Amino acid sequence: MAQQIFVANWKMQLSFDQSCSFIQYNLESLEQLALNKTIVLCPSFPALHTIAMLCEQSPIAIGAQTVSRHPFGPYTGEVSAQSLSEAGCTYCIIGHSDLRQYNHESNINIEHKLKELIKNNIIPIICIGEPQEHYEQQKTYQILEEQLFGNLEIIKQHEENMSLFIIAYEPVWAIGSNNTPPTNILADIFKWIDQECSKRTKVHHLLIYGGSVNQNNAKELLAIEHVNGLLIGRASTEIESFRAIISA
Ligand code: PGA
Repeated sequence: MAQQIFVANWKMQLSFDQSCSFIQYNLESLEQLALNKTIVLCPSFPALHTIAMLCEQSPIAIGAQTVSRHPFGPYTGEVSAQSLSEAGCTYCIIGHSDLRQYNHESNINIEHKLKELIKNNIIPIICIGEPQEHYEQQKTYQILEEQLFGNLEIIKQHEENMSLFIIAYEPVWAIGSNNTPPTNILADIFKWIDQECSKRTKVHHLLIYGGSVNQNNAKELLAIEHVNGLLIGRASTEIESFRAIISA
């Protein structure tokens, strides 16, 4: 069985100082947990390099929350995959629904970002998930197809240069809401994602669930077949809940 992976998406919840303090106070206890689980911390851009330095001697990995679709150039406010890699990132989240929602990020844009990550040997964590209205209209699979298949096609084209990709299924309506989908629905969705990934590329994949993960539901979510780990927002910014989730 693949080692479980826990991705902490700190979003803009922790400031630079708070992110550094989190590591200074908690590195040792996280290192213990990272002996047999993969832990990826995704702070905001300014804290990336400092956190990467603080974790340098540890098994804890660092990820970014997004990346530019361009390799370099006059793109104010953007950060290239090359810079992320040089700053110590080995993972990067793309397609998060916050960006799809607030920045109108399109599937095409996310596919360009994926190519940049592949070029720079950064493991992509590709977020997919349907908004509430589509869930209610039972259009989940249609939305997931649109979000997933283009990326899998790109991965297939770059098989020789990739060892791993991660798909995070995060129903938009579950994020930050205290609601998670029923386990049987999740089991079907993860089975389908796993089948599609295996069918469309031979690159190894891991599947993770995100959306209102907490210490009370982590064990049940991790028990679902094909769920290899969790993407955790709010609950990853408090060490007690984060530790409890990883130990679930
Ligand atoms: P949440 O966020 O755990 O706070 O719901 C998850 C995410 O948006 O990645």
